[in-house]
Amino acid sequence: MAVVIVVGTQWGDEGKGKVIDILTQRADLVGRFQGGANAGHTIVVEGKQFILHLIPSGILHATKRCVIGNGVVLDPKILLQEIDALAASGVAVGPERLAISERAQVIMPYHQAIDCGREERKAGAKLGTTGRGIGPCYEDKAARTGVRAVDLLDPQRLKDKLAPRLEEKNFYLTHNLHGQPLEAEAVWREYAAYGERLAPYVTNVSLLIDEALQQGRHILLEGAQGTHLDIDHGTYPFVTSSNTVAGAACAGIGIGPTKIGHVVGLVKAYTTRVGAGPFPTELSDEVGDRLQERGAEFGATTGRRRRCGWLDAVLLRNAVRLNGISSLAVTKLDVLCGTSPLKICTAYKLGGRLIHCPPPEAEDLARCEPVYEEVAGWEAEISGVRKLSDLPAEARAYLARIEELCGAPVSLVSVGPGREQTILVKDVFA
Ligand code: GDP
Ligand code: IMO
Ligand code: MG
Repeated sequence: MAVVIVVGTQWGDEGKGKVIDILTQRADLVGRFQGGANAGHTIVVEGKQFILHLIPSGILHATKRCVIGNGVVLDPKILLQEIDALAASGVAVGPERLAISERAQVIMPYHQAIDCGREERKAGAKLGTTGRGIGPCYEDKAARTGVRAVDLLDPQRLKDKLAPRLEEKNFYLTHNLHGQPLEAEAVWREYAAYGERLAPYVTNVSLLIDEALQQGRHILLEGAQGTHLDIDHGTYPFVTSSNTVAGAACAGIGIGPTKIGHVVGLVKAYTTRVGAGPFPTELSDEVGDRLQERGAEFGATTGRRRRCGWLDAVLLRNAVRLNGISSLAVTKLDVLCGTSPLKICTAYKLGGRLIHCPPPEAEDLARCEPVYEEVAGWEAEISGVRKLSDLPAEARAYLARIEELCGAPVSLVSVGPGREQTILVKDVFA
């Protein structure tokens, strides 16, 4: 029995999709436990690219099961589009492959309208959300006025629940956001139809996982976003609306913390951020442009250009502590070829003082000056390397320095988007 959690250590897009797809070879069941279709997880198999927003990144392995936990905010429209797109690519996603928690909160059209309406009205102070309705849906969950997957299965119950919610949301949409109201009957019909299609998938995911654990199965829990987008521990308010840290996996899937065996922290070999918010090591020069181009850094969900910068070990150490990270998976090392010297931020300077942990105020983080150490880069392309010992000495030294600064060993190195472009160092299920 082994449960492995995979989380991002930075601001998302660390390569979780690719690494989950690789680790699924050793797992039996893969589950998402938080976030929603704000996530964009990319997998490249034999040159074909798949971008998943809600379905766990284990789905391309035909014999493995995937689950969407109660902690996820589920957009049924996007989920069904994803199921259909996979089917069109030859990946059948029937209820024997995918289970959805009956307790998952459902993203409704008013959540998306409120998310986008608020962003439009913020002018210069936008958060840069993905516009997928994530924040407003988690608000309703906390307010205990959410619609859950189980509600979609009973049209009359759905109608009864929707009526008071739509009245309130329409008032807010029209009076506060000067938007258009939603028509109750149309929303009900659309969501009851989604319920009909999704009914065979909806089940008690906690029981299903417990059964798998009792049979000695290996379970992989796939985080979305990254540690510094966590609602409590991230760069608030420039964060998402869920807990993204490993501690959230238990509550978001329905298991106890004593079942967790290993936590993998995903580290992109440099730093990126999409959307607004402080980013101390951001580069607005040609080095940043080079990382953006070589790394093809465009958002997998919104297509926005990702901001790029040097590796930030202050963030990494924070993530190792917050998640209890057991090992690191370092991705996109190939993107650094040809950039020398490389810089790693080891501390921040704030008001003349050295600090080693991100301050709680976004304004203070924005004023932090990174303290860098320089390390040698390398020229040789490494995307064809499959063994650690075949990497240039400078690339091995870069990895060793990351291990040293984080206090955690590297278990996997990724040198390209393809499945095969991977160096496995340690079996995280062992
Ligand atoms: P996620 O949200 O953490 O799953 O990451 P994304 O899929 O949003 O972004 C990561 C991007 O980098 C995707 O386009 C991947 O195909 C790509 N990628 C993943 N690992 C590597 C790697 O080692 N090298 C390169 N060059 N690209 C990678
Ligand atoms: P994956 O799983 C990168 C960012 C948005 C915005 C902030 C809040 O692919 O790593 P939201 O729509 O969640 O309310 O937006 O969070 N964001 C992400 N950035 N990767 C993601 O997911 C993200 N999900 C949300 O850009 O700044
Ligand atoms: Mg992504």
